[in-house]
Order: sequence, then structure tokens, then C-alpha cells
Amino acid sequence: MEPLPLPLASDHAGLPLKLALKAALEAEGHAVHDLGTHGPESVDYPDYAAKVAQAVASGQAPFGILVCGTGIGMAIAANRRPGIRAAVLHDSTEARLTRAHNDANIACFGARTIGAETAIDALRAFLATPFEGGRHQRRVDKLDPDSAKPGA
Ligand code: RB5
Repeated sequence: MEPLPLPLASDHAGLPLKLALKAALEAEGHAVHDLGTHGPESVDYPDYAAKVAQAVASGQAPFGILVCGTGIGMAIAANRRPGIRAAVLHDSTEARLTRAHNDANIACFGARTIGAETAIDALRAFLATPFEGGRHQRRVDKLDPDSAKPGA
């Protein structure tokens, strides 16, 4: 697939899985932007979710990747930002369907809840699956009612 600019970040709990995802993405030619954390010291996941959410919401990148212990804290934090649709993924079926139906733009993983190989497969499916649009576009539009286009 075409190489993508991909911002990625984790907290301390997510660091090992983040590094595995980063290596897999780089091996496939993607331009990965590792926004931290870079060491084992305890950090706060909302700070890292904000960095990736900002890169995606501003249009700098089409998708982002976040990893914490469960993926849940990162998803909660990222989803508070307008325009962000972050999904916690456990397998490639969830990855495919959240792209096709929810137009998800951030993939979240839990380093304590998923193995690296399964996460890499899910991430590949996430990046390769287009949004289906149609009836799903109407539903996605209802997720951000305040940003509805004037006259639409
Ligand atoms: C850190 O211990 C842990 O709470 C965090 O990585 C994450 O799982 C929160 O959702």
C-alpha cells in the first residue's frame, strides 16, 4: 500500500508494543512519527493521546496509533477531541469494521491485552480498509453534530 505519514505514541505501559508496531510500519515503508514516550518512566496517557489526536485532527496525517496498558485510556482521551474517532482494537475484524463503518482515524491498542503479532495484523487491516460511506456517512456525521456544514 501507499506509504502514509503515521503519528504514533504510547505511555510507559504501552512502550514495548509501540516499538513493535513502529518497527512493522517502518518495514512497510510508512513515515512513522514517534511522539513518545521514549523511556520506562511513568507518564500520563492523556498527554500522548493529545499529541496524536492533534496531528490527525489538523490533517497532518490521515490516521494515528496510540498504545497504553489497555488502549482504553488512550481512546477515551483521543475521543474528546473534535473530529477524532478512536477505536480500541483486539483483532483484524474489529479493525476492518471500524474503518468501514465508523471511519475510525486512530487505532488504539493495549500492551497488556493483545500480542504484538495480532496487533500488527489488526493495524495492517485498519490501514488498508476504506470507509464505506453511504448510510455510514450519515451516522458518522451525527457523531460531531456541532461541526455540521452550514446548509447541509
Ligand atoms: C498505566 O498504568 C495504565 O493505567 C495506562 O497505560 C492505561 O492502561 C490507561 O488506560
